[in-house]
Amino acid sequence: MSKALDYLLQKRPDAMGAYFTFLKQAGTHLDKKTAALISVITKVHAKTANGLRQYLPRALKAGASADEIIDALLFAMPALGFSKIVWAVDVILEMNLPEFQHLGAAPQAVAWRELGDASLLKEDEAQFYKSGSSAYYALQSGAELSVYSAECPHQKNVIPLTGAHGLELTCPFHEWKFDLKSGQCISGGPKPLRRIEARLDAGKIWIRG
Ligand code: FES
Repeated sequence: MSKALDYLLQKRPDAMGAYFTFLKQAGTHLDKKTAALISVITKVHAKTANGLRQYLPRALKAGASADEIIDALLFAMPALGFSKIVWAVDVILEMNLPEFQHLGAAPQAVAWRELGDASLLKEDEAQFYKSGSSAYYALQSGAELSVYSAECPHQKNVIPLTGAHGLELTCPFHEWKFDLKSGQCISGGPKPLRRIEARLDAGKIWIRG
């Protein structure tokens, strides 16, 4: 919930309580997926990025596919207008959700390239790698390998290795904190680290993208 809604709830609990009751009852006959899709559309209509980031995962959880969400946005074009739909898709792609990855650049068009020596990886400990002018974090957790761009999604500064502590990575510039297993931002901001497709082969880490 936004700070403004929190404030209004505190200052006008009767009026705001009635408002939330109205919203709840108004959707009584809608199935969860339809209600979630409509909520996504309302967030796009209001152009609230935080609201969209909050309701998009709810729509996915309610069973909507990425294509259904895109269809819902396009279907609402008469109300939303094209520029709000493009804005929404930008927000959605920035969220880096696996369900929407097929909407980004075609990964098969990008060749695999070597990132570095896999023997440097230690269980549940972030390793910093450089490749050309880009930097990355790699984490091995059991059989799972996760690689992220070391660029902070806030203002694109490279997060130095001093920011890595166990499974957490903290950007020293404005203290956004990330969970290295999921890449999600766990405090400070709304955007996740950019996940890079990666695999292990012949003792090396290979990445694409
Ligand atoms: S640049 Fe990383 S938190 Fe601002």
